[in-house]
Amino acid sequence: MQLLGIFGHPITHSLSPDMQNAALQETGLDQKYVYLPFDILPKHLEAAVASLPVLGARGVNITLPHKEKVLPLLDDLDPQALAIGAVNTVLHENGRLKGYNTDGLGFIRSLREEGQCDPYGKTILLLGAGGAARAIAAAMILQGAKEIMILNRTLPRAEPIQEMIQNMGGTSSIYDFSPEDLTEKIQSAQIIINTTSVGLYPPDQSLLAEYLDGLHGGQLVADIIYHPQETLLLKQAKEKGCATLSGLGMLIYQGAEAFRLWTGVEAPVWAMRASLEKKLK
Ligand code: ATR
Repeated sequence: MQLLGIFGHPITHSLSPDMQNAALQETGLDQKYVYLPFDILPKHLEAAVASLPVLGARGVNITLPHKEKVLPLLDDLDPQALAIGAVNTVLHENGRLKGYNTDGLGFIRSLREEGQCDPYGKTILLLGAGGAARAIAAAMILQGAKEIMILNRTLPRAEPIQEMIQNMGGTSSIYDFSPEDLTEKIQSAQIIINTTSVGLYPPDQSLLAEYLDGLHGGQLVADIIYHPQETLLLKQAKEKGCATLSGLGMLIYQGAEAFRLWTGVEAPVWAMRASLEKKLK
């Protein structure tokens, strides 16, 4: 039996143990692996990571607040994790620990498989400039997106993401909510993604509520919020004729990518989805 798990603090609300154990059961790999949550205080992160080879663990997911702090504790980094500057999955192989970031790729797979939409050549509008925006932006550039526009309340927070995009050879522009022609910018995007918690806290709010003229059919509007009730952003986007995508898919596919890295087996995404839908009901 080999150990899998998740390091975070707090960890009680994590949905990953249910989702990953459902996938292990479905594939029969529950005979080989078990996935457990670990509440790891920041001051214990280094010791917890160092314990992975000692315990012969296969790997862990890394969540808040450790995604960035874990980087210098690992032996190798996947190029995407390095560009993003954050790790959500660690793989232990032959005594070496390698860090990956499957968040962005998880979003892209959700976009392709559930949204039937490919980011190649597309103009993307990201709402927000936190860690999720950074991961999605990096994955979009690697998939050949044409341009990434970032709209954030605090303009300077978007600057490091713009720099990352440019270092990766991509094109990007950044905005706060002040320009008069924001509606035009929104109209020009083919894919719009809310990476902020607006819509969850506070509920029934949307960063685009005052810019609905920017939305039109032919756009895909996604939210990384995954709670079962549709967010105001997605409701209003649907009314405007846009295709929409909730954050549940990103949660599932980032986990599916981690599962594949650890086990070498394609994850049964339907079983993961079923376990999440049951849990979130
Ligand atoms: P994560 O790393 O999980 O993506 P984060 O770093 O907390 O989350 O980032 C949250 C993002 O949501 C930020 O871009 C934040 O905007 P600021 O950079 O201006 O703080 C954005 N955000 C959160 N609450 C917001 C609100 N009420 N209005 C506008 N933007 C908000």
